[in-house]
Amino acid sequence: MKKNITGSKLAQLKQQGQKISAITAYDASFSEVFATQGVDIQLVGDSLGMVLQGNDSTIPVTVDEIAYHVKCVQAGNKGSLLIADMPFMSYATPEQTWTNAATLMRAGANMVKLEGGSWLLESIEGLTIRGIPVCAHLGLTPQSVNVFGGYKVQGREEDQAQLMIDDAIALQNAGAQLLVVECVPSSLGKRLSEALTIPVIGIGAGPHCDGQILVMHDMLGISTGYIPKFSKNFIKQTGDIHLAIAAYVDEVSSGAFPGPEHCFE
Ligand code: KIV
Repeated sequence: MKKNITGSKLAQLKQQGQKISAITAYDASFSEVFATQGVDIQLVGDSLGMVLQGNDSTIPVTVDEIAYHVKCVQAGNKGSLLIADMPFMSYATPEQTWTNAATLMRAGANMVKLEGGSWLLESIEGLTIRGIPVCAHLGLTPQSVNVFGGYKVQGREEDQAQLMIDDAIALQNAGAQLLVVECVPSSLGKRLSEALTIPVIGIGAGPHCDGQILVMHDMLGISTGYIPKFSKNFIKQTGDIHLAIAAYVDEVSSGAFPGPEHCFE
């Protein structure tokens, strides 16, 4: 079990070349298992709109729903850093951002996550000044699925890739302490991790990121139907939830996960 993971502890892990493990969590019981097995970060993701509520996107999720699950996860947590997703349109203006982030922090979050690039600079600076740590999210940002026209790999063209790197540096300079990058070629995951001093946590972003995150329902074999290429079912090899989480933490830490079969070129 790891105790009291903070943003500065995560920065230290990056400096030391130690990989960071992260997972989505939605309730106290799983939270305790994840923390006990040494998961560094738990994210109450708006993926709950899909895996808990059965929607086909994250768009219907509300701040109150995230806050409810943050309370549940923090109740079982034993030292992981707890990040709360700010759901669709809850940070459309800086004022909305302060109010909604405050609700999530009061519910027990240690950090909030926002999807988007340089249009968020004022919000990120404002949150940081007001004492709210921020995780940024680039690449395939699921709240923009209707703009992207589907869940597609991002940053394959060099101009898109460079824009993402420029955005990431600007977000870091505005105060973001962490970056999640989703569904990009491994080469771009590597460039982002090298360009930033803050840790880069990948999901479908290759093995060179500073850490990895997966949706718990995918990696525990609960999800049916479409399983993303970047995920891995750790129950298949272990047959036990505690052992599956321990194997995930070990494989992230050793670099065994993600393998080439989980990556995009
Ligand atoms: O909502 C979520 O679970 C996420 C992860 C997939 C990174 O944003």
